[in-house]
Amino acid sequence: MQLEEYILNNIDPEPDYLATINRNTHLRMLNPRMISGHMQGRLLSLLSKMIQPDLVLEIGTYTGYAALCLAEGLGAKGKLHTIECDDELEDFIRENFRNSPYNQQIELHIGDAKRTIDDLHGPFDLVFIDADKREYQQYYDAVLPKLRVGGLMIVDNTLWNDKVLEEVSDERDKQTQAILSFNRNIANDRRVEKIILPLRDGLTLIRKK
Ligand SMILES: C[S@@+](CC[C@H](N)C(=O)[O-])C[C@H]1O[C@@H](n2cnc3c(N)ncnc32)[C@H](O)[C@@H]1O
Repeated sequence: MQLEEYILNNIDPEPDYLATINRNTHLRMLNPRMISGHMQGRLLSLLSKMIQPDLVLEIGTYTGYAALCLAEGLGAKGKLHTIECDDELEDFIRENFRNSPYNQQIELHIGDAKRTIDDLHGPFDLVFIDADKREYQQYYDAVLPKLRVGGLMIVDNTLWNDKVLEEVSDERDKQTQAILSFNRNIANDRRVEKIILPLRDGLTLIRKK
């Protein structure tokens, strides 16, 4: 915690509209820990600015925080698609997008990610996977063919609260099992280069060769 505070005091601040989303998410939402937040958000923003994507895909919008961080790297004609299955979040997400400079460049899809991905056309330059951990492999398999060569996929929660280190993980814990299997598959996938950053809950960066 002390280290996190030190880091936050020595990196760029969040834009005001993101600080507002962060605050309102903690005030109004269940599970506010799901939000990317200040530190991870600044990394997403920086990576996006380095890639300068024309087309971005996010899987798992929640309150829109990470989508807006990723949107910071879009050029004037760039576009970001983000998918969220919980329709009760829709009004809050749309309000958050409207209060940012990127409202016109973001398309929110309310629905199941697996079905929605099939309807979207790439090639994507940048993809952020952050929805149902049990479905990570399916998202990856559906998205990789739509990611351009040299494009970047960022996958959140790949250390899953350090549960990946537990020797015998509970058979019933389907999320941990899925993350373990996903990490193994990515490690062995020669179509991509990969690194796991021990940031927050683990962030895997995957570049398509
Ligand atoms: C960890 S939160 C996303 C946080 C957001 N990316 C951020 O960093 O601010 C995960 C979100 O994925 C959504 N989700 C879970 N399963 C989904 C699915 N099958 N299709 C679309 N969204 C899904 C959840 O409702 C939740 O809002």
